[in-house]
Parts: sequence; C-alpha cells; structure tokens
Amino acid sequence: MSVELNPPSPAATEPVIRVGPPPQAEKKRRTGGIPGWALKVAAAVTGFIWAVFLVIHFYGNLKVFQGADAFNNYAHWLKNAFYPFFPETGVLWLMRAVLVPALIIHVTVVAMIWWRGRQSRGKFRAHISGVASWASWLMPLTGILTLVFIIFHVLDLTVGATPAATSSFMAATSESSFAYENLIASFQRPASGIFYMLIMVLLGVHILKGFSNMAADLGAMGKRIRAAFIAVGGIAATLILFGNAAIPAAVLLGVLP
Ligand code: HEM
Repeated sequence: MSVELNPPSPAATEPVIRVGPPPQAEKKRRTGGIPGWALKVAAAVTGFIWAVFLVIHFYGNLKVFQGADAFNNYAHWLKNAFYPFFPETGVLWLMRAVLVPALIIHVTVVAMIWWRGRQSRGKFRAHISGVASWASWLMPLTGILTLVFIIFHVLDLTVGATPAATSSFMAATSESSFAYENLIASFQRPASGIFYMLIMVLLGVHILKGFSNMAADLGAMGKRIRAAFIAVGGIAATLILFGNAAIPAAVLLGVLP
C-alpha cells in the first residue's frame, strides 16, 4: 500500500525574511532579558566610577614631579591608608573590589548593547560615513585598547612581570615602595613611554565620547544637563590625557628623573 503525502505548500518551503527590528521579547531573550535602559544605566555608572578613579589617579601621579621620596611615600601611604581603622592594604583591596567588578560589568553591558544594536539593524544597515562612522568605531576600538593597556600597566608597575615590567623592577616591602624607580625605568624604554602616551590620547577620546553618549541618552532632561555632562567629560578627559601623558613625555625628554 502506498501513502501519498500532501506536497508542502510553497509558503512552508520559502525562507521567512523579516524586515525591520526583531520583536522586543526576542531581542531581550538574546541579551538576558534585561531592558535596554538598565544596560545603559549600568554602562554609565560603571564608566563614571572608572572616570572618578582616573581623575584621582592622575592627581596622585602628579606627585612624581615632586621627586622620588614624595612619590614613593605616597605609593606607600596608599597601601596602608587609614591603618589601623582599615587593615594593611585594606583600602587598596577595597578599591580593587570596586574597580574590577565595575570594569567587568562595563565591558559586558557595553558588549550586550552593541550586540542588541547589531541584531536590531539586521541585514539592512544604513551606510554611515564621515564623522558618524568614525564615532561608531571609536568606542569599541579605544575601549579594547584601554583594556589591553590596563593588563599591561598592572603587570608593568604593580606585579612586576617581565617583559611588561623592566628586569630592574623592585617589589614594594612593608616599609617602603619603589614606585618611582619602577616608573622611571619603564618609561625610559621608548616603546613603553610612547605606548602610555598613545593610550592616554585614546582614553581621553573614550571618556569624552562616553560622556557625550550619556548626555545624548539624557536628552529628555534638557539642554543644560547635557551641556554640563559634556563639560565634565571634557575636563576629565583633558586632565587625564595631558596630566598623565606629561609623565612618560618628561622621562623620554630627560626632564625626569
Ligand atoms: C601615565 C599614566 C599613568 C601612570 C604614570 C600610572 C602610574 C601608576 C602607579 C605608579 C601605580 C602604582 C603601582 C604600585 O605601587 O603598586 C599605578 C596603579 C594603578 N593604575 Fe596607573 N598610571 C597611569 C595611568 C593609568 C590608567 C590610564 C589607568 C586605567 C585606565 C590606570 C590604572 C591603574 C590601576 C587600576 C592601578 C592599581 C593596580 C593595583 O594595585 O591593583 N593607570 N599606576
């Protein structure tokens, strides 16, 4: 006995082509069901935490221009700050406990926002050119390079792992720090000094664009708030860029030590 199956209807064999963004529920499922506004707030808050740290860090770094003792004493003080209220290195570990998760959250939610945007655009992308096209590349590019820099920087000046650190690296003891000597030795290598300066430019751009994105997201709050955000971002980016880049530049030009 032969059984004749009904031939599939043409509609069932044709691929479904959806034009426009996928439905809201599907978009959320692909990125963990978190609403878009929550991702943006998380990216903004964690980015802001790092921007505050960087301004404080830049201010501390300027002590290098006061000489070896001032800088080493400052690095040593940081390790034992507010002892005995905090245990030794307690403040340092508290700072790490805030900065490391903030960085992980920042990178994760930014990747989720990027992924969502990509999914929404689908196949039909608008061709963006000129400044807007550069701007869309700036954040991922400067962000990834900054991430690479942070790993290099910690190996170079905190952990002392070669080849990021110099072979003359001296680890801090419970009595003293050698942050000044380590920093000078690192920046005396032209590749390292130039890498630090280049990253400060990229980081300045990243911070400025980050603040202007935040301002755009807060568009509904009015022109003044947006202008204030852009001004704060501009000041932070300028301080971090020029203040920090001045240190490797001074070493490479022989102004320091
Ligand atoms: C020219 C610019 C910079 C200089 C001269 C500099 C210098 C230093 C020095 C001397 C230390 C302390 C090392 C120690 O005694 O343990 C340090 C720690 C640190 N720096 Fe920088 N820094 C610069 C830029 C940056 C930037 C741009 C970032 C982040 C994007 C950054 C992130 C950190 C972090 C997270 C630590 C703490 C590491 C830890 O102990 O866990 N620094 N930096």
